[in-house]
Amino acid sequence: MPDISRRNALLLGGVGVASVAVGGTGFFINQGHSSGSISGTAAGNPLVEPTELRSTNGTLSVDLETAPQRVTIAGREVNALSYNGGVPGPTLRVRAGDTLTVTLKNGLTDPSNLHVHGLHVSPEDNSDNMFVTVEAGSSFDYQYELPADHPPGVYWYHPHLHGFVAEQVFGGLYGAIIVEDPEPIVADRERLLVISDITLNASGNIPAASPMDEMSGREGDLVLVNGQLTPDLTARSGERERWRIVNASVSRYLRLRLDGQQLTLLGIDSGRFESPQEVDEILLAPGNRADLLVTGSAGTATLRALSYDRGSAGGMMMGGGLRNGEEVPLATFTVIGEGVDTQPAVPDQPAQRDLRTETVNVRRELIFAMGMGGGMGGSMMSPTINGRQFEASRIDTTVQFNSVEEWLLTNTSTLDHPLHLHVWPMQIIEQDGQPVDTLMWQDVVNIPARSTTRVRIAFEDFSGKTVYHCHILDHEDNGMMGIIAAN
Ligand code: C2O
Ligand code: CU
Ligand code: CU
Repeated sequence: MPDISRRNALLLGGVGVASVAVGGTGFFINQGHSSGSISGTAAGNPLVEPTELRSTNGTLSVDLETAPQRVTIAGREVNALSYNGGVPGPTLRVRAGDTLTVTLKNGLTDPSNLHVHGLHVSPEDNSDNMFVTVEAGSSFDYQYELPADHPPGVYWYHPHLHGFVAEQVFGGLYGAIIVEDPEPIVADRERLLVISDITLNASGNIPAASPMDEMSGREGDLVLVNGQLTPDLTARSGERERWRIVNASVSRYLRLRLDGQQLTLLGIDSGRFESPQEVDEILLAPGNRADLLVTGSAGTATLRALSYDRGSAGGMMMGGGLRNGEEVPLATFTVIGEGVDTQPAVPDQPAQRDLRTETVNVRRELIFAMGMGGGMGGSMMSPTINGRQFEASRIDTTVQFNSVEEWLLTNTSTLDHPLHLHVWPMQIIEQDGQPVDTLMWQDVVNIPARSTTRVRIAFEDFSGKTVYHCHILDHEDNGMMGIIAAN
């Protein structure tokens, strides 16, 4: 795609693209309105949050129906995919110890299934089982038992059928799961921001990804927050808001900033810092989530995704969907009034386990590479782990139940790969040979291009068979996934 149209689609500020812009009533901050002002066009649309479904008395039972759906995205009528008619799907709010029951009805024309990303639940039977296929037109009853000590935080759900994942997620199939804090953290307001990207053609359809896009990982022309383009958030000075942010993009990294506002990071994924950290910037690889406190200072701030260089697809002239240079405005945060509130201190969070002090039973290395040949149409590069592509009938890694392992993750390619392991979170102990001092528990861990990351994992609480994979979902669909069995 020529660069100019990509920029137009992103800015949505130029006169020429007004017809594809939001609703029609958007107002322009600048009289001239072709000045490239980004916040102008989509302003005036308050952030809308997905429907919320909460557990009561330890149970939440929901029906999730996937379907091709006509939805309004970025002010346009679009043919997307949805859970229960919305993009994102409903937010599921549960507590540790709850039972979550989901009847997945697959109204798509392709097979699908469901994954509860990041939840520490069994990978077997009708729990978070990656080997279930729900055929088009049929349904499946999932049941997830959250342990009584399940970590609080923000998680999410999405389809996980190998070969269909990127397309179905890109189409709009994602939703958030919130596990409440046992000890509430006082905030004036809670918000959920599910960030995703999408490409729409002139007729409101989502075009298929090219082989090149699949190689580098597709990135959409539009970056959305809860399916909206640059929505407005309003607060009063001195208020504290709790923001839960999900990176539901197929391949896009989000280097987030909200300049002029105080950001206190509680944690990434299921991890929690014992003392919340003041930050300027948060990097979310695809699949990562942030749990954040924002304390409002009077003024208008733009939540932005800054450019992030995730490399290039080895030697190819065109980077496919790569958008390394882009900076994208995501939302406008307007804080009014004078600051007065004094916020109660954030309670210290429970001490996190530190696997650096524990005995390692097994060490292994996983090598992430973009090899030649194979899956992506012959002469293209194909993503591999330890030289192999995903094979549903092969167990790649067998671990001992109740053991601690250390994995050296080596990326020999010129693209970053975010590794995701189901069921058991990873503690990052070393990045590019440098020890990591903070306690960092994540379920998606970035391995920068031509670099290494070292993690430790405790294979506890659940045994069974599941997967690890690159969370650039095009890479996962094209083979960068392995099967792990804990026995
Ligand atoms: Cu978010 Cu295996 O996936
Ligand atoms: Cu997952
Ligand atoms: Cu990858």
